[in-house]
Amino acid sequence: MELPGAQKEFVEILHQIKDPATLHGFLSWIKENWFTGDSNLNIGSHETAVVVNGVEAEELLENIAIDLRQLLPMEAQLPSETIVFPKIGKNADCHPATTVNVDGFLYDDRLVDALCDEGKLPKSYCTSCGSRDTKPLTFISHSASRENLAHAFRNLLPDLTGKHLLDIGSRFGAVLFGAFAYSLASRITGVEINAELAALSLSMVHKYNMQSRVEVYTGDIRQFPHLVSSADVVVMHNVFEFFAPLDVQRDLWQALRQLIKRGALILTSPSLEQALSPLNTNIQLEQWVEHLTHPSNTASMDDDDEDSVPEMDLVHLYRVL
Ligand SMILES: C[S@@+](CC[C@H](N)C(=O)[O-])C[C@H]1O[C@@H](n2cnc3c(N)ncnc32)[C@H](O)[C@@H]1O
Repeated sequence: MELPGAQKEFVEILHQIKDPATLHGFLSWIKENWFTGDSNLNIGSHETAVVVNGVEAEELLENIAIDLRQLLPMEAQLPSETIVFPKIGKNADCHPATTVNVDGFLYDDRLVDALCDEGKLPKSYCTSCGSRDTKPLTFISHSASRENLAHAFRNLLPDLTGKHLLDIGSRFGAVLFGAFAYSLASRITGVEINAELAALSLSMVHKYNMQSRVEVYTGDIRQFPHLVSSADVVVMHNVFEFFAPLDVQRDLWQALRQLIKRGALILTSPSLEQALSPLNTNIQLEQWVEHLTHPSNTASMDDDDEDSVPEMDLVHLYRVL
């Protein structure tokens, strides 16, 4: 479309909005999502806070990953964790015996390939022991990859200067570290139900001097309603599916539906549609949120296409109505 056509359509949309509050909301939405403070178009990447505490963002995250790899077992799961394998939904084909957690924050694709080549990480399992009748293992990741974090903070989320970001189920802190490295959010909060993981993330927060903006709480997110209701951005990355039975998941989502404030952004994986579909929550999604993510950001992320980038799943962005 040429400029005059675009201008005409834009003005027509404005004329169709009769309610002044809606008009104001629409224009604010454009300003927040498509412009930075200095009126530069916010299409493509807005690279903020590339250097933090004198260290480049990628280098900071790489250093944290190196440290955490020393402190965690290869599968990056702890004996104190209870993993609940889904029986319904898209991940119902994950079975404990044939599913391997390869943590996307700790191990990038290059490292995974190297580990497979060295035989340290199996790629397949034997369907009848001793034979060559093998099938590929299912790989899952309980953390967002560094690549995905860079994409989310640079390309998906608006400028977070002065905002409060909450990561529900912060595990050992991947999203918190990504928010610290790539955004200027003034308050970055993680809530993690597993005390060992929360302690591990806190040790990294202190080691890399992030405590001025990053805080971590241990417990069930339902114990911290004030954190949920004060957040401007709520991140939920595969948060409950592998960690809670269906009735608990239902209760958690219903609590979040009540608590997350209007106007807040929700960044999720999988989509809210997918997360809620097996749960009977009675949450009317179209009355709760609008889906902001442009299809170009999510296309190829959700399909089973071999060429898709499986780690880039933290891509669904919503605004609470
Ligand atoms: C898939 S991990 C996500 C980790 C991190 N947010 C990321 O994206 O890298 C989900 C985490 O949520 C935690 N969790 C599950 N239920 C929770 C709850 N009710 N309250 C707080 N944390 C919870 C789990 O222990 C797990 O570490």
